[in-house]
Amino acid sequence: MRTQVVIIGAGPAGLLLSHLLAADGVESVVLETRSREYVLARIRAGILEHSSVELLTDVGLGERLARESMPHRGIYLHTPEQRTHLDFVDLVGHGIHVYGQTDLTRDLVDARVRGGQQLVYEVTGTALHDIDTARPYVTFVDADGAARRIDADVVVGCDGSFGPSRQAVPDPRTWERTYPYAWLGVLADVAPSTDELIYAWHPDGFAMHSMRSAAVSRLYLQVPPGTDIAEWSDDRIWTALAARLGHGRDGWTLTPGPITEKSVLPMRGFVAAPMRHGRLFLAGDAAHIVPPTGAKGLNLAIADVARLAPALGALLRGDGALAAAYSDTALARVWRCQHFSWWMTTMLHVTDDPFDAQLQLAQLRWVASSEAGARGLAENYTGLPLR
Ligand code: FAD
Ligand code: DHB
Repeated sequence: MRTQVVIIGAGPAGLLLSHLLAADGVESVVLETRSREYVLARIRAGILEHSSVELLTDVGLGERLARESMPHRGIYLHTPEQRTHLDFVDLVGHGIHVYGQTDLTRDLVDARVRGGQQLVYEVTGTALHDIDTARPYVTFVDADGAARRIDADVVVGCDGSFGPSRQAVPDPRTWERTYPYAWLGVLADVAPSTDELIYAWHPDGFAMHSMRSAAVSRLYLQVPPGTDIAEWSDDRIWTALAARLGHGRDGWTLTPGPITEKSVLPMRGFVAAPMRHGRLFLAGDAAHIVPPTGAKGLNLAIADVARLAPALGALLRGDGALAAAYSDTALARVWRCQHFSWWMTTMLHVTDDPFDAQLQLAQLRWVASSEAGARGLAENYTGLPLR
C-alpha cells in the first residue's frame, strides 16, 4: 500500500488529524491496535475547551456536538469553608462544553467512515522504518494475520503513551513528574446533582463532580496511588463523595445512583521533545501526558493536530517552514498546559503535610475572591487560542 500520511493510533489525535488532512486534500491511513468497538467504548475525558469546540465546528464536526454537548459557563470551587462559582463567560468571554471523549470519538469515526478514509483496526506489531528519509514506511500484521507494509511521505505517531512511535525518536529529551495520588473515577446512572462541575478540596482528599448527560454523572475521588478498586464498594464511594463535596451544606445534596463503571487512574506529567524526527511527527499523548485535574489531555491532543495538519499539507506541497516550527510551537502550549495542570493538581490534592493544606486553602481563597486570580484560572481552563 501507499499513502501520503500514515497515522498510528485512532484516538482523538489520530482521527482528527486524518479528518483535517482530508479537508486539505491529503490522503492518510489510520492504523489502530484495538477493535473499533473498544475504541468507541473507552471512557476518558469529558471537557472541551472553547477553542476545541470552535475548531471542531469549523471543520464540520459540530453538528451532534451542538445538539448534545452541555455548554457550561464555569465551575464551582468548593472547600469546607465556602462554595464559589467562577463564571468563565463573565471573566474571559467564553465557557466550556461537557462532551464525553466517547462521543467525540464516535463523531470522528463516523466522519472518517463517511469520508471513505481507511481505518485499519486490530493491527499488531506496528513498526516504523526509514523515518529519517523522505520515504518512510510502516509495517504491521493485519487482523487476518497477514504481514503488511504501507509506504508514505510522512508518519505521524498518535499512539498514546505506550505506542511505539515515541521510541523511534533517537535520544529524546524527557521530563517526568509522578504525582503521589491517583483518581478513582466512576460513571453513574443518576442525574447530576449540580448544574456545573464541582472541584472540591477536602481534608480527606480532592473530589470532583462532573457529568456526561442529564441522566449520567461522572465523579472522581483522590485515592492513594496503587489503590485496589476492590477496597472501594459503591457505598464507600458515595459516602466519601458526599463528605468531600459538601452534602447537606446550605441545602445542597448529592444524589447517589447505580455505578456502571469504576477505575483507578494514575497521575503523571510527562513531556518528550522534540515532537519531530525527520519524517516522523508526534501528537497528543504520544508526546506528553498531563494529570487530569485541568481537563487538558484531550484538548492538547486537539491543539497539536490543529497545528500539525496545515504544517503537513504545506510540507507535502514543498514548503517545510511550518513543519520545521511544529515541535517548538506545540511544546510552548504543552508546557503552558503542563503548568496549569500541575497548578490545579497541587492546589486541590491533599498531602500529609499540614503546611501544604494551609497554602492550598490560601490559594483557593485568593482565586475565589480576587477577579485577577479567577481570571487566570478561567483563561487557562477555557483554553488559549489555537492559532
Ligand atoms: P489516545 O486516546 O491514547 O489514543 C492512542 C491510540 O493509539 C489508542 O487508540 C491506542 O489503542 C492506539 N495505539 C497504541 N499503540 C498502537 C500501535 N502500536 N499501533 C497502532 N495503534 C496503537 N484527560 C482529561 O483531560 N480528562 C480526563 O478525565 C481524562 N481521563 C483519562 C482516563 C484514562 C484512563 C486515560 C488513559 C486518559 C485520560 N485522559 C483524560 C487523557 C485523555 O483521554 C488523552 O489525553 C487523550 O485520549 C489523548 O488522545 P490521543 O489520541 O493522543 O491518545
Ligand atoms: C472530567 C475530567 C477531568 O479531568 C476534568 O478536569 C473535568 C471533567 C470528566 O471526565 O468529566
